[in-house]
Amino acid sequence: MEKYPKQKPAEVVMPVCDLPDLLKGQKAIVTGSSSGIGKGVAIALAKAGADVVINYAGSKERAEEVAQEVSAIGRQALVIKADVSQEDQVQAMFKETVEKFGTVDIVINNAGLQKDSCFADMTIDQWNKVIGINLTGQFLCSREAIREFLRRGIRKEVSCAAGKIICMSSVHEMIPWSGHANYAASKGGVMLLMKSIAQEYASQRIRVNSICPGAIRTPINKEAWETPEAYEKLMNVIPYKRIGEPPDIGHTAVWLASDLADYINGTSIFVDGGMTLFPGFTTNG
Ligand code: BGC
Repeated sequence: MEKYPKQKPAEVVMPVCDLPDLLKGQKAIVTGSSSGIGKGVAIALAKAGADVVINYAGSKERAEEVAQEVSAIGRQALVIKADVSQEDQVQAMFKETVEKFGTVDIVINNAGLQKDSCFADMTIDQWNKVIGINLTGQFLCSREAIREFLRRGIRKEVSCAAGKIICMSSVHEMIPWSGHANYAASKGGVMLLMKSIAQEYASQRIRVNSICPGAIRTPINKEAWETPEAYEKLMNVIPYKRIGEPPDIGHTAVWLASDLADYINGTSIFVDGGMTLFPGFTTNG
């Protein structure tokens, strides 16, 4: 008898699904939504009925393209430039959002970056930049979100919660990552930031959760999927044997922000094709 089953990967069939109108009338901010996962989330929220702030720090053109996609879906889009690591810029973004949209119901703390280096050579700039955007940015945006949710309370006509925060974490809040100590530390920090805020404001009917993506096909990890050799190597750590696509995260964000997930609070949801299942043990140990 074989100890391990023979595993020839099955054919990859991508999901086909229409998003139901779960977020009708809600206002959302998605930080870092001019590309990658943020763009996928902004489009998914719009398809589910939300008006969306497209926040960017770099390319205005790309942010405006996303805004056009949101408008084509029939929702309102507001493009706002803000570096999430800067308190004044974050406060200005929330102020403008409340002025133009009236309030905000959903905040997706998505903006994030990598500045990779082996640890011995990591510079203080590489450390500070990653902690500044990935962790301080989530602190600043969450704090403004909580202030607005507390000010406004529950809007019964759109949701039974007073507000929802979704932190974009990573499988690397759990999986250590050599060559990326700054990034892994920022995501580990996001995990307990998220849980602490969730615990502190649960009684106010504010829900705070994280999505932990695995490898998603975006510019941040292009090296890991752009050549057939790199893709094949990546599959060694993905039991489901396909890379994730931005809508995989978008669909999760829609559901998690909606009242279908009303009893989910303070949780990290891994969307990773099984990357956190210790795939090295499939035929080992
Ligand atoms: C990183 C990607 C990486 C993935 C899985 C993400 O958080 O940003 O670069 O491919 O984790 O390792």
